[in-house]
Amino acid sequence: MQNDPMLDWQSLIAKLKTATRIVALTGAGVSAESGIPTFRDAQTGLWAQYDPLELATPQAFARQPQLVWDWYEWRRGLLAHAQPNAGHFALAELAKRFPHFVVVTQNIDGLHAQAGSAEVIELHGNLRRAKCSREEIIVAREDARATPTSLLACPHCGAYLRPDVVWFGEALPRAALERAVRAAMQCHVFFSIGTSGLVEPAASLPRFAREAGAFLVELNPEPTPLSANADLVVRAKSGEALPRLLRQLDSPG
Ligand code: APR
Repeated sequence: MQNDPMLDWQSLIAKLKTATRIVALTGAGVSAESGIPTFRDAQTGLWAQYDPLELATPQAFARQPQLVWDWYEWRRGLLAHAQPNAGHFALAELAKRFPHFVVVTQNIDGLHAQAGSAEVIELHGNLRRAKCSREEIIVAREDARATPTSLLACPHCGAYLRPDVVWFGEALPRAALERAVRAAMQCHVFFSIGTSGLVEPAASLPRFAREAGAFLVELNPEPTPLSANADLVVRAKSGEALPRLLRQLDSPG
């Protein structure tokens, strides 16, 4: 454990001073300080009895569509009170200092865009959007058809709406993944922030970047499978470390 992660940041600052292409891969940890439980945190209250890994699947939706829909509506409700935190805002500000700065997020809460990040690739979709479970087209809730339950139906074909998120066992949006891989392969500095690095294919992006010659930084209070391969590990919360990095980068000298 470093006494002060800032001590080793000089190597990172030096890299950033000459870098033009940056990628920041983010996970649930970046939204933890906005009060949104990370995916592997214990579910609270009503949902404590359910295992998220059981609910976030096409099979669960086919078997119990209302349970899965209600669970996502509960999570969407949590977003209503969530605001971007200092880490989100610092990333949006950092991006202004580079010609190419891409946020590649596994989060489905939309907080990066809300904080002002201009280029965000959503690998796992966005909880605020719903889509037809048959046609895969996005449907605004106000255009949906009501049903006798809390489920909503597609106005075109009548199939149930589902959250526009990637479930376990489903492919990621191809265009988003291709853009993320290309950005990882071309960047000078790759940040892996607030992710346990357990879920593919997102978990491979840092390796692609490292193999292509990028300087790899892990920002996470806890160790992950990526820690051993990072050029710099910062054991800190993103809401504290990213604003400090921004100040360091902006300070003269
Ligand atoms: N700042 C930075 N990192 C944090 C913070 C914080 N304040 N708080 C927690 N973390 C770290 C944890 O140490 C953990 O490594 O964030 C990570 C969160 O890991 P997960 O809960 O596994 O979330 P994530 O990595 O985004 O999961 C990836 O898997 O669960 C599926 O589709 C879901 O997008 C999710 C994907």
